[in-house]
Amino acid sequence: MESISLAKASQLTSPNPLTLVCTQRPDGKTNVATVSWWTYLSFNPNMVAFAMAKTSYSGERVREAGVVALAMPGTELADVVMGCGSRTGRKTDKVEEFGIAMQALPEVPVEVPQGSYLVVSCKLKEFVEVGDHYLYICDVDEVLGDGDVSAAFAWGGYSRIAGATIAE
Ligand SMILES: Cc1cc2nc3c(=O)[nH]c(=O)nc-3n(C[C@H](O)[C@H](O)[C@H](O)COP(=O)(O)O)c2cc1C
Repeated sequence: MESISLAKASQLTSPNPLTLVCTQRPDGKTNVATVSWWTYLSFNPNMVAFAMAKTSYSGERVREAGVVALAMPGTELADVVMGCGSRTGRKTDKVEEFGIAMQALPEVPVEVPQGSYLVVSCKLKEFVEVGDHYLYICDVDEVLGDGDVSAAFAWGGYSRIAGATIAE
């Protein structure tokens, strides 16, 4: 083995998980941002967490509104994943710019992209400073899933979005 950077490590752990962090904008619309650093934390009670750069608009919105929905993208959302991961919502309405088809779901306070296979609707419990990111620790209110949609993952670190298949 050799000493490598943590960024290089993220290539070795590919495919990495993906979520679209959906937060409430002040105008009532949804801001969508791509996040790979999310994790389950607890099943009793149900809790998840995600880490976002301190500068992210999504972080600002979840700290303000206290609610967030994590929408796990299907493979057909690959372009949405890359678009929403390369542009901040601070200055632009990404849903409009990228023409994202949204859907309202029961018990979920923000609209989420159509083509998601899993939606985890949360309330922010607390956030913790972790270097150049904040870790957002959330209580889960609702979980909605669709087993027919094929899950997308980030490959080569975060450079390519595609499904994962298991060799038979
Ligand atoms: C595949 C992929 C994964 C990403 N994962 C993260 C992540 O885990 N945490 C993070 O802060 N930013 C991540 N980003 C970058 C953010 O999505 C990007 O900074 C985005 O502009 C933030 O949008 P916002 O300012 O509207 O919140 C990722 C981008 C891509 C393309």
